[in-house]
Amino acid sequence: MSYDPFNSKISTALTGSMRDYRVQTGPDLATRGDAFYAWQNNRRENGLWPFSRSTEAGPGTVCKAADDRGNGIEGVNFASQDYLSMSSHPAIKETAIETIKVYGVHSAGSSALVGNTNLSVALERRLAESLKMEEAILYPTGWAAGYGVIKGLVRSSDHIVMDMLSHVCLQEGANAATRNIYQFRHLDLAHCREKLASIRARDTENGILVITEGLFSMDSDTPDIVAMQDLCNEFGARLVVDVAHDFGALGDGTGHIGIQNMLGKVDLVMGSFSKTFASNGGFVACRTRALKEYLRFYSPSTTFSNALSPMQAAVVTKALDIIQSEEGRQLRKSLMDNVHLLRNTLTENGFEYYGDPSAIVAVKMGSEALSRLVSRRIPELGLLSNLVEYPAVAKGAARFRMQVMAGHTEGNIRKAVGILREAVAAAREDLEEINAAAGKVASIAA
Ligand SMILES: Cc1ncc(COP(=O)(O)O)c(C=O)c1O
Repeated sequence: MSYDPFNSKISTALTGSMRDYRVQTGPDLATRGDAFYAWQNNRRENGLWPFSRSTEAGPGTVCKAADDRGNGIEGVNFASQDYLSMSSHPAIKETAIETIKVYGVHSAGSSALVGNTNLSVALERRLAESLKMEEAILYPTGWAAGYGVIKGLVRSSDHIVMDMLSHVCLQEGANAATRNIYQFRHLDLAHCREKLASIRARDTENGILVITEGLFSMDSDTPDIVAMQDLCNEFGARLVVDVAHDFGALGDGTGHIGIQNMLGKVDLVMGSFSKTFASNGGFVACRTRALKEYLRFYSPSTTFSNALSPMQAAVVTKALDIIQSEEGRQLRKSLMDNVHLLRNTLTENGFEYYGDPSAIVAVKMGSEALSRLVSRRIPELGLLSNLVEYPAVAKGAARFRMQVMAGHTEGNIRKAVGILREAVAAAREDLEEINAAAGKVASIAA
């Protein structure tokens, strides 16, 4: 690849972050995007904007895609969220087609009105039973479920205590619900306890919602859910666990709540269908019909939003059937075999990654500049993998989040790691050249 290392714009494209352009001022809202667009477009023109890609035939283990300039990419795909390879499963596709023949394609209403079908009502029951909870309520997306469970329950005088790495939907729900938000250090139970104790020392009148995830999506790690629920019980707080990345895919299919023997013992479980169940959609499972009804009518992201389509409800139900069958067990085994093979192959090639074995294998890169240069190299070598950089993760902790599927082959995995290795070596040379030309080696590489 030929760079013009004397192009000073490359230095700009290798520095800065989206955070720099979020807050814009001035009377004309229509120009708010201009500064961001100039920075983004400089990255784009230098081949350093690896986002907003589109696949040509869905998220296969090998697929064709295009970047947002229309340039074609073809290669092994570790960038899609389809952990059990359900989106191309013949029975899932058949279910979708047959459902459309009977129900049409649209829910045409909120679940608070007539947007539900018998399929979604039955799915709510199945989800509740699967998690050994009394009730479950569907949301149009996982995001809506995360936002909605918080905004639906928490009022301005209540308190929120949340893991500082909680997903954006949870952060946004918290910000919309109350100003009384306390973040504790990631997975740090003692810090969580400190926050709870200090709130309860001065306020015994209002509610506290504690928020965590079953499997953190950038770090692939997990809290002690037993201890978190105990803490909540001790301080009169309620716990919600977001199981978007582990429900269906880990353990016996019930994710970390099942692995930690907490089925039916967590106050609220919130999840998404978009990683393992081949569909948009989300849910909240709770302990009483009263709470479910309260969420249905006070959680704005479900009350005032159209329900899952009948096809989505049928697809998720079929995925749940498979997940709970012998085939599901085999798919989870294939997934974990692939995860271990990927992690081991990365180690053999000198890479490090975050967290515990799961479908998320986040490969450490560190410097944003180096990562962006790697992200420019990998598509042309035949690998799709998502770059995650600040502000989605801390500054200097950029990573390639490789998302493994049950359907990946050994060849796919070895190829991906080989490409990553080649791309990193080439990107290091690129960076040296650019830095030498710019005469500021330390500042960009740091
Ligand atoms: C932890 C977590 N919660 C919630 C969501 C939102 O789910 P969805 O993409 O299905 O709306 C995501 C997905 O990005 C996630 O990673």
